[in-house]
Amino acid sequence: MNTLSPEFRHLFIPGQRRPGLLLLHGTGGDENSLIPLGRCLRPGAPLLSPRGRVLENDMPRFFRRLAEGIFDEPDLIRRTHELADFLTGASGKYGVDQWFAIGYSNGANIAGSLLLLRPEVIAGAALLRPMVPLVPEKLPALNGKPVLIAAGSRDPICAPEESRAVAALLKRAGAKVRLEFEDAEHGLTETTVATTQRWLEEANPEK
Ligand code: MLT
Repeated sequence: MNTLSPEFRHLFIPGQRRPGLLLLHGTGGDENSLIPLGRCLRPGAPLLSPRGRVLENDMPRFFRRLAEGIFDEPDLIRRTHELADFLTGASGKYGVDQWFAIGYSNGANIAGSLLLLRPEVIAGAALLRPMVPLVPEKLPALNGKPVLIAAGSRDPICAPEESRAVAALLKRAGAKVRLEFEDAEHGLTETTVATTQRWLEEANPEK
């Protein structure tokens, strides 16, 4: 395990393919949680998996919330910049110049916030079961950045309207959004993995 400034406990697994995958776990996960998913999504790609720095009842998260689905926006903004700075440092340290974020639940929400506040640090993002993290006063210019929103039509935490709202917001900012619903709840399924894999391949055709 390594540390970088700002300090995030994290795992880095080297690889030759680009982009690398920035893996962002859900509430209660850690830097190990999404490694198997990352390996399966893009074999041979470098994986960078930080642990969220906020603890909620001992469960790591990437930013504070006031209640289920109600986010502490100043904390979210601060943590988004911290994560973006960490990623910039990690890119230099590990020699990886292009990243796609793969975020699940709370990790999807901070990935969405990275797109809205610090889009220069990621080339694309798969948001698995996301919500609208925040609505910035001024939208960024996402200039066709590829974004997948993988939603569950029976998700009690991220309702279908919420997934459509994230998609609409990112489209307004100019992202190339694909919104995919599956017959599922909040948890990830084999279908989510297959959808994400296919989208990653289409967004990054091998030369
Ligand atoms: C979670 O449990 O992670 C939430 O539903 C999403 C969030 O709080 O960011």
